[in-house]
Amino acid sequence: MMYSVVIPAAGQGKRMKAGKNKQFIELDQSPLIAHTLKVFEEDERCKQIILVVNENEIDAMQEIISTYKIQKVSKIALGGKERQQSVFEGLKQLSGPDEIVLVHDGARPFIRKEIIHELVTTTEQEGAAIVGVRMKDTVKRVMNQTVEETIDRSELWSVQTPQAFWRDALLTAHKQAEDQQFQATDDASVMEWVRARVVMVEGDYSNVKITTPEDLLMAEAILRKRRMEHDS
Ligand code: CTP
Ligand code: MG
Repeated sequence: MMYSVVIPAAGQGKRMKAGKNKQFIELDQSPLIAHTLKVFEEDERCKQIILVVNENEIDAMQEIISTYKIQKVSKIALGGKERQQSVFEGLKQLSGPDEIVLVHDGARPFIRKEIIHELVTTTEQEGAAIVGVRMKDTVKRVMNQTVEETIDRSELWSVQTPQAFWRDALLTAHKQAEDQQFQATDDASVMEWVRARVVMVEGDYSNVKITTPEDLLMAEAILRKRRMEHDS
């Protein structure tokens, strides 16, 4: 089945401390967002990309779209204050018969096509699915610098994007979240909040979100490894 993807890229990148939206940071001489767009441009199952941007960055984004010959961006939406609002604005651009929609962070350039396809297939069967990886660290709950509890790691997953849903269900959940001022950091939380079942698809650790300066070192290493795989 084909899918549409909403890519939120309307953040500020504060934790990156680059003095600009991290989407424009260059990795291997191309802006971060160009890497992410390219994955979906090259995926034959992706029918369109809705890119969510800051109002003062429309021109810069459009220039990237044209420089990197991205043809699947069908609409550009204006972002909101929080990621959740940005995704909602992107979703509102979609219409027509119900379809599978993916939400994927502009700041995750290393998602692999195989995992996207597994996610889409799972969503066709189960209704909603997200990509994540098993937690590597032991996690403790701490209050006043004192450990309260060690949480059983075997049940814990770190959540990534893409996250995939039937569009009408996700839109309805987002509308309800806006009405009742429910704020979450990912889209699955919005669906969980309306009691939908969400299935986990195991992804890989290289699908990092570029968030802090250290992540740029990781990104360089991942790019180097991919180049070597590609050349051999
Ligand atoms: N995002 C968005 N609109 C917002 C906030 C975030 O579209 N109001 C996007 C970001 O551009 C990014 C993704 O959501 O692609 C994940 O968010 P995050 O990694 O937190 O990026 P920023 O919000 O830009 O970074 P920071 O939180 O450090 O400021
Ligand atoms: Mg943020």
